[in-house]
Amino acid sequence: MTNQGIAVTIHTISTQAFTDQKPGTSGLRKRVPVFQQPHYLENFVQAIFDTLGDVSRDTLVIGGDGRYYNRQAIQIIIKMAVAKGFQRLLIGQSGILSTPALSTLVRKHQAIGGIALSASHNPGGPDGDFGIKFNTANGGPAPESVTDAIYANTKTLTRYQVADLPDFNLDRLQTSHAHNTQVDIIDSVADYGALMGKIFDFDAISSLLRREDFGFLFDAMHAVTGPYARTLFVDMLGAPAYSIINGVPREDFGGGHPDPNLAHAQELVTRMFDPHGPDLGAASDGDGDRNMILGREFFVTPSDSLAVLAAHATLVPAYRDGLKGIARSMPTSAAADQVARELGIPLFETPTGWKYFGNLLDADKVTLCGEESFGSGSNHIREKDGLWAVLFWLNILAVKQQSVHTIMTEHWRRYGRNFYTRHDYEEVDAANAGALMSALTQQLPELAGKKFGAFTVDFADEFSYLDPVDQSVARNQGLRILFTDGSRIVLRLSGTGTAGATLRVYIENYVRDPQRHGEDTQKALTALIGLAENVARIRHYTGRERPSVIT
Ligand code: G1P
Ligand code: ZN
Repeated sequence: MTNQGIAVTIHTISTQAFTDQKPGTSGLRKRVPVFQQPHYLENFVQAIFDTLGDVSRDTLVIGGDGRYYNRQAIQIIIKMAVAKGFQRLLIGQSGILSTPALSTLVRKHQAIGGIALSASHNPGGPDGDFGIKFNTANGGPAPESVTDAIYANTKTLTRYQVADLPDFNLDRLQTSHAHNTQVDIIDSVADYGALMGKIFDFDAISSLLRREDFGFLFDAMHAVTGPYARTLFVDMLGAPAYSIINGVPREDFGGGHPDPNLAHAQELVTRMFDPHGPDLGAASDGDGDRNMILGREFFVTPSDSLAVLAAHATLVPAYRDGLKGIARSMPTSAAADQVARELGIPLFETPTGWKYFGNLLDADKVTLCGEESFGSGSNHIREKDGLWAVLFWLNILAVKQQSVHTIMTEHWRRYGRNFYTRHDYEEVDAANAGALMSALTQQLPELAGKKFGAFTVDFADEFSYLDPVDQSVARNQGLRILFTDGSRIVLRLSGTGTAGATLRVYIENYVRDPQRHGEDTQKALTALIGLAENVARIRHYTGRERPSVIT
């Protein structure tokens, strides 16, 4: 379709502001029927566009994780972007772009930003979740100053603009023109695959994956990484095609919950916890930014994974000269802190959410970042990156020729082990969850010095973060109770849920003694788990006997 030269009518549609369009930890997430209400998506997109000035010389990248409503949303956004007057739109073929691929494209093409359509690891389908997130020119999630401006716009919006155009064919790679805008449907994988080839030792990884005695299993969970994994692991690196399971993306993720953890990646977990199972297992989430790493009969916690990647970074060509620093979100365990200390590099503790890493990466203060929520990444883009983490582990295994289990136990022997767990209470009553948090907040000043069995509280506070780059302050980022032996209990409410409230309780205990490193995590943390219950009265407020998900 070429509409260049043809006058395209731009309609201005009157609308009424919605009151519930405040972006959360990762953009605006709601149930699909909410997004399907007349004007709902349009209002939010216009609120994003209204934060941008003249875009007649700018490129916008658009793509999503392929979940239900992805295609319809992209058609709407294209027509609104043409009305806004972008010079160029880059759209992933069939509307598909993983979040890391979108970040790659924004940076490579010096776009003004990107729009990612995803609700990450939340289930999809007509009654599932949908989401929209704006990334800025550095390729990362918009910082709070921008999301606040978007939210302010949503509250006062009275009109949006849309070009009168037929639907675009999203499936064919092609360039077309509409009004003043060039619309390019591009390969969803190519640029991202090329970037991975520049970071890692593909020769070493390829030899490993071709070995008969090495087993690799990747679970794409019927989400966006299927085509990326096939290109990278099978076509570029020579792994057998059967190394990828659930590799065909589906609008409802095959009815599953595309969250790579022990509870939801069941097929992978079953096959890895077999004495004859593969050597490395991994999974990624709906939009491809999360990762779970497993060895044979062995689960690597995301916090430990970040520490291992940091300790072995110089084995990877792109990080051969060492790391500038490491950043982790506050609730993430301090395993990476031990590595940073030994390497003599700074460690930054940020609030939850990838957007807080952006400034540190842009200022070249850190090279690696990670979150306990199955996210890790580096300065190569400005999002966390699931397949990058898998390639990083493959690169380490290819060089060290050791099992995941051996690498992990040797790591603990050297640095000590941070036993760590997260207990989630999902979809609890929002008012009760709020009451729990306020009651605990009120107790915080009296906790310091108090003894609970073997544990003495060192200090307790509400975490706030002063960004060392732009001096912005993020308050109210979770409640933490720190003990004199380095143990911690952290509580916060999720900012990505779409129904009720989700309470997250993070529990950590540092153990130096190698005799104890083989213990079961939940057992090792029993006393602290009980202590969290006593102090925060979780059962009382949530009405739940136990968490809904333990990771
Ligand atoms: C969750 C994770 C957080 C992650 C975010 C987006 O946010 O805890 O680390 O950055 O998803 O993937 P939460 O629901 O806790 O606000
Ligand atoms: Zn995600």
